[in-house]
Amino acid sequence: MTTMTMLATPIAFRDYPHCCSVGTGNFTLSRGGEKAYLVAPKKIPPDSLRKLFREASRADHSWSALTSQDSAASKKAINFVNSSHLSPNQAHAHHIKHDLTYSHTTLQIKSYHDISTHLSKIDELTPFESAEIMQFLWREKESLIEEAKTSAKCVRVKRTEFNLPRTLIVTSEGKIFVLLNRTKTCSDDMAGEGAFKKVKFCYEVTEGKPAVIGSSKDVIGLQEEAQILDEFKGVPGILQLYAVDTYTSKSGEEKCAIITEYCDGGDLFDGLDKIKREPKKIKTFLLALVNALLEVHKRGYIHRDMKPENVLLKIIGGELIPILADFGLSCRKDNHLKRSLGVGTPDYLHPKYAKALKENPKHTPSLLISAITTTTLDVWALGLIFHLLTHKNANILFWMDPAKTNEQVIGELANVREGWVKEPSTKTSLDHLVWRMLQVDLNKIIPLQEVKSFLEAS
Ligand SMILES: Nc1ncnc2c1ncn2[C@@H]1O[C@H](COP(=O)(O)OP(=O)(O)O)[C@@H](O)[C@H]1O
Ligand SMILES: [Mg+2]
Repeated sequence: MTTMTMLATPIAFRDYPHCCSVGTGNFTLSRGGEKAYLVAPKKIPPDSLRKLFREASRADHSWSALTSQDSAASKKAINFVNSSHLSPNQAHAHHIKHDLTYSHTTLQIKSYHDISTHLSKIDELTPFESAEIMQFLWREKESLIEEAKTSAKCVRVKRTEFNLPRTLIVTSEGKIFVLLNRTKTCSDDMAGEGAFKKVKFCYEVTEGKPAVIGSSKDVIGLQEEAQILDEFKGVPGILQLYAVDTYTSKSGEEKCAIITEYCDGGDLFDGLDKIKREPKKIKTFLLALVNALLEVHKRGYIHRDMKPENVLLKIIGGELIPILADFGLSCRKDNHLKRSLGVGTPDYLHPKYAKALKENPKHTPSLLISAITTTTLDVWALGLIFHLLTHKNANILFWMDPAKTNEQVIGELANVREGWVKEPSTKTSLDHLVWRMLQVDLNKIIPLQEVKSFLEAS
């Protein structure tokens, strides 16, 4: 009889998500500091125990601890969990506490995907709020994933509708994102906002990964950007897409948001000085950036918005790694009739196009950029980034002044003439490479593949 009770318990437990008591007994399963009770007999038949743990690890990953008043039973439990057929990722038990006064033994069952642990790491959430989210997920997680699978799109669980501390986004693959209000993605003074997107912080709680969510009024533009990012999944050096969420706002508007990996080093605009401080590492950094852009070109795309703000930084093993981001103005080489026309900066525009723009003032800079279908545009802009990174005192170029209007910048750029950068005498120097990227004659701009070869050889 007792065996039957015990076997039924983990399944019944699922129906009582929060602080519930299912009978009385020797075992206590606790989660996130709150306790729930599990019936277990003093003498535990081995097979039943194994089955119990299997059910427990399947039922919910956040079952974290099991307490028994019977230390002999606990020892058995440890042995059985660890020698059971569960994979180490599913459950692992070890002795964490033995309280002599009450003769209590606590075992911890660790699971690979421990949502409650990840939730508790989110600074913005109080323990009470994370418990609320946990409780909700406990009840709804499986059906939300099912819903996402059936509709082939993310399910947005709105904070206000479900009385949750934060809005959640659930994907068909079972990823769960908790949206946070934080807009600052790196240092205190860095707001994640461009001309096109608002970038906010979020957190994926099944694997415990920080992420960001970018939204924009330009739904089509964002969907197109997501499609491009989707093609670059798994490509090193390119911002990784986690999910795309299309949803209807309160006022009935169609909206879109893209969730991507979080780059913990911020963007290159803020990080220029950090990179410059380590001149020995600069070539490796530049080469990584070239490889990423080369991959974009090889797959038939032009980035068209290369600038330090769109090169993000990840800190891996203490090193800053460039991640190419913001494909909001990108297009295929063979299809330039584009799409979203965000108002970008003309700072990185090639002088030839600046001149064309000056002569056609009706065009906005982004309209003009959208008409350019050459990868050379990216190489010039990359050359400017290289220039900023390799010149001690240059954090901006003479036409790049935030106080200047777009017209002024375009006017100055249109006047940039051959020889604006002097040819460095040493042909093998990095400066010489940059000089070859910054040619006013488009035909003289060094192909990107050669930039790569140069960096690899030097
Ligand atoms: N994944 C990320 N990690 C860290 N910061 C980011 C991330 N994505 C964007 N940002 C910050 O937000 C800014 C704007 O994002 P971006 O995608 O370039 O939008 P826009 O298309 O509006 O320019 C970036 O310049 C960067 O500072
Ligand atoms: Mg940008």
